[in-house]
Amino acid sequence: MAVLPVLAYPNPFLRKAAKRVEQFDDELRRLVADMEETMAAEEGLGLAATQIGSDLQLLILDPYAFEGDAGRGKPNVVVINPEIVWQSEEKILAEEGCLSFPGVYIPVERPKRVRIRALDANGQPHELEGEGLGARAILHEIDHLKGVVMVDHVSHLVRTRALKKHQRNQLTAKSEERETVPAARPGFRPKR
Ligand code: NI
Repeated sequence: MAVLPVLAYPNPFLRKAAKRVEQFDDELRRLVADMEETMAAEEGLGLAATQIGSDLQLLILDPYAFEGDAGRGKPNVVVINPEIVWQSEEKILAEEGCLSFPGVYIPVERPKRVRIRALDANGQPHELEGEGLGARAILHEIDHLKGVVMVDHVSHLVRTRALKKHQRNQLTAKSEERETVPAARPGFRPKR
């Protein structure tokens, strides 16, 4: 298993629409395992395959999103080829984050409840219902499979502010990387 790099906005891959999974084989299950390790390392509640550079309709969700503390330690929910069966007309406005916009949180309006149909990593069908945070997590990750990101759901003003903050965060992360990477890279000799 491996922790994979998560693509940050505006990586063009994040705008790609994913294609249906047809092969439920060891390769797919390895990808799921890598995504699980990546989501845990990044402390995310959900991760879509799009975010790690795969174009498959695959996402994983932490059971915490559905059960809160009772979900801790339970296996992640694997969602493949999802279809939205139903969503409530009632909506909720709440803060949302995304591993492709680390450190950025914006209020996004989402249906309060949603029900989806999907397949698991063995190709077995299952239905999943989410309310509040659960519905938000499901819809946020399904968006990723369509090339949609959270800033697409907000006003021009909120979007502009969020993108500015994101850009600043990315620059800070890059300069921190520059400071730490040379020492860690074998064979690299700093200029004296
Ligand atoms: Ni996201």
